[in-house]
Amino acid sequence: MPNVLQGKKLGFIYNVRHKYPDPKDPETFNETDFDDPVTIESIVTHLTNIGFDVLAIESDTRAEEILIREKENIGFILNYSEEVFGSNPKIYMAEVLEKIGLPFSGCSNEVQNIVINKGKMKEVLLSKNVPTLRFQVMKSEGERLDPELRFPVIVKPIARGSSAGITNKSVVHRDKELHEQVKFILDTFKEPALIEPFIEGREFSVGMLGNPPEVFPIIEPKHESLPKDYYHIDSLEVKWLLEEELGENYFNCPAKVEPKLKDRIEKVCLSAWEALDITDFCRIDLRADSVGDIYVLDINTPPGLIPPEISMTSYFPMAARVMGDDYETLLRKIISEGLKRYKLKDSISPSARG
Ligand SMILES: Nc1ncnc2c1ncn2[C@@H]1O[C@H](COP(=O)(O)OP(=O)(O)O)[C@@H](O)[C@H]1O
Ligand SMILES: [Mg+2]
Repeated sequence: MPNVLQGKKLGFIYNVRHKYPDPKDPETFNETDFDDPVTIESIVTHLTNIGFDVLAIESDTRAEEILIREKENIGFILNYSEEVFGSNPKIYMAEVLEKIGLPFSGCSNEVQNIVINKGKMKEVLLSKNVPTLRFQVMKSEGERLDPELRFPVIVKPIARGSSAGITNKSVVHRDKELHEQVKFILDTFKEPALIEPFIEGREFSVGMLGNPPEVFPIIEPKHESLPKDYYHIDSLEVKWLLEEELGENYFNCPAKVEPKLKDRIEKVCLSAWEALDITDFCRIDLRADSVGDIYVLDINTPPGLIPPEISMTSYFPMAARVMGDDYETLLRKIISEGLKRYKLKDSISPSARG
């Protein structure tokens, strides 16, 4: 497969964490979406094992200069980053790559800017009749709850991921709690809060890969195995503390869903993919309400890709394993789908080497 880059390097662009997320330390929330250094090293090792000559670059304000310098030596980029760390105003790596004119995996800058912002993302979905919950954006303290929304609601930062800012306190039942939680989001993340009805049906997460995408086996977290005083949400506490403790046992993958529900979930995911013009890969989080209707909560581009030797519960690789694709096969497929999209290579057998 590396021959497809005609002797050139594979750029691998990442965001790396400088502090481990700690629910008690809001400072660390800004880096929850980033990966640990050991994860990045391990991904680089896998890419090297596949046979790539890897040029790993941290997505920070120095990356552009390196990329310009190395442009002629780079055949393709696996863009595993979101924001350019330290950029102000915040920009996404896709913008830099488009400006330089390098081919890269994942979403365009335009799509990334929409998907990363749950408010913008949900507006597009609603305008195209893809089911997502109604919502309100609060940009300042003390704003009143839209009368169309009823307690309980959940309060989230508008443009984060990996459950940053989502704790047991995010589910609120009265004005006082709502105002406190909105203040917490505004102060901590310096960005608006997004308010949605809190629904407590089954939760699903679905990986997608390819153009058009193949839908991965559905993952369902077993919320019923959470301790009694926890809301049934994948909060920061659950994701970072309990999931690792319970491991794969915390999930059903494939989820036990009857064919009609499976079909419905897949249709909703495909319609979200199309509505947003997603490319190459993503992972969509969905939830059912009390009557079983399905709503898109969140779209992850790129989805987390933590290798199995570091975590067995990284959703996208976990679902790929269930399909029979080991981690390196998955990486190959992601790169292969990107190359095909740029017509850099028509098809690559997933097992091709060298
Ligand atoms: N409207 C909601 N109702 C119920 N649970 C929710 C809702 N929104 C989020 N959650 C819970 O919080 C988790 C994280 O929210 P999500 O929107 O996926 O944000 P993130 O981008 O941080 O993953 C979800 O996996 C789900 O368990
Ligand atoms: Mg999510």
